Amino acid sequence: MKTVRTIDELRPELAGEIGLVPTMGALHAGHRALFAAARRENELVVASLFVNPAQFGEATDLAAYPRDEEADARVAEESGVDILFAPTAGELYPDGFRTWVEVDDTGAEGAARPGHFRGVATVCLKLFNIVRPARAYFGQKDAQQAVVIKRLVRDLNVDLKVRVLPTVRDPDGLALSSRNSRLTPEQRAQAIALPRALEQGREAYTKGSDAVAATRSSLNGLTPDYVELIELDGATLLASAVRVGPVRLIDNVLLKGALT
Ligand code: PAF
Repeated sequence: MKTVRTIDELRPELAGEIGLVPTMGALHAGHRALFAAARRENELVVASLFVNPAQFGEATDLAAYPRDEEADARVAEESGVDILFAPTAGELYPDGFRTWVEVDDTGAEGAARPGHFRGVATVCLKLFNIVRPARAYFGQKDAQQAVVIKRLVRDLNVDLKVRVLPTVRDPDGLALSSRNSRLTPEQRAQAIALPRALEQGREAYTKGSDAVAATRSSLNGLTPDYVELIELDGATLLASAVRVGPVRLIDNVLLKGALT
């Protein structure tokens, strides 16, 4: 695996059908599943490693985001990544940067984190233009993000296929997230209420009852930023964000249809 930091270094390495896995590092088994799919389906696998300041509202959240490039490079290499693109903020947002992708999306994460999807969409479109992949890989845990990217690709005629892979979970059900590493053991134990409550919501939905109310009442004392039904490209998701101590966790379950 080769690590490159600039667009000029990256471009000559790009050839054949490319699979791109955009990441912010702190790589875990969820990322490994994305790398494995990219490896199966493409000639060249590029992973980006960039903690994108433009998608963080709170400076403290950005500062607290876990960073360990050496460990990430090991995971990427073991997973068959060919090129790790790890640019600086100045490389992607040089002085004078003024152009943004505005996302017209107000629900759930969009409402809870103003400007978040603008930052995600902008960096992803930049990565698509830099890497020119045939396929780009995202996890269902960030389902709304995946849909925002799918819509961006469709609305702005970007020539690539967006692949969305199922959420990878710990054996007790907690969705893997880079943020989990910031939970104390006590907070980790509390966090499990989120996937369990979403399961209660799914059960309620299958019985024709109110999925949102069932989820809210099963959160076991966790305060939700939101619990919402999200309609996406023919699929219905039940999604929630909660705060466990200083850590904000999101998760969702599919109620109907599929995200592919
Ligand atoms: O899901 C993430 O890690 C980020 O939002 C992404 C897609 C890499 C963009 O910075």
